[in-house]
Amino acid sequence: MTPLFLTFEGPEGAGKSTQLRHLAARLAAAGLPHTVTREPGGTPLGTRVRGVLLDPALGIDPLPEFLLYSASRAQLVREVLRPALARGEVVLCDRYADSSLAYQGAGRGLDPGFLQAVTAAATGGLTPDLTVLLDLDPALGLRRAAWRGQPDRLEQADLAFHERVRRGFLALAAAEPGRFLVLDAARDEAELAEAIWRAVGERLNLPQEQASG
Ligand code: TYD
Repeated sequence: MTPLFLTFEGPEGAGKSTQLRHLAARLAAAGLPHTVTREPGGTPLGTRVRGVLLDPALGIDPLPEFLLYSASRAQLVREVLRPALARGEVVLCDRYADSSLAYQGAGRGLDPGFLQAVTAAATGGLTPDLTVLLDLDPALGLRRAAWRGQPDRLEQADLAFHERVRRGFLALAAAEPGRFLVLDAARDEAELAEAIWRAVGERLNLPQEQASG
């Protein structure tokens, strides 16, 4: 079995969780062992940190915000990601370090070199094999996210912030075209699921008919 580390990234309301579910269902149907997790969260520590990070009642400065995301990430790498990859599984993670570069770097203005140094320490250098970036106009994404209920602390940030985040993600993808699969999140849900499955099938060297089924 080939371990494979896949991350899903994108602005608010881009449909990452939906596509993650589609992919997990296809992996299950193909009999491929996999682990699904998310950031911030994924561990008991991460879940508590997530509550703090998303609480609209809390003021959190950019630096402590980044360090909290990093703390959750460091625990997730050690408790969930590395063990699952060591078992030869496909690991699907809803957001990972690229979110910190986009939100805390491009969005909040923290220095990217500093973010990368702390991230390397937090993750021990674990980087995704493939990152699916679901790109979407933030005005549309925030409207979609608002249908889900009360906006969390990040969703409450202004549109200009979310536009910087989107541009940050696109710049990361342009810098590493081999790792990123950039898809227009406004496309049809089933079509997107198909494109993602094809890319994952290639990375897993699945036979063509299985990859397109
Ligand atoms: P979540 O409810 O998972 O949002 P979404 O459904 O859009 O993924 O909340 C996670 C929020 O945290 C989201 O607004 C993005 C933000 N975030 C960062 O700012 N930095 C990070 O490093 C990560 C992982 C997430």
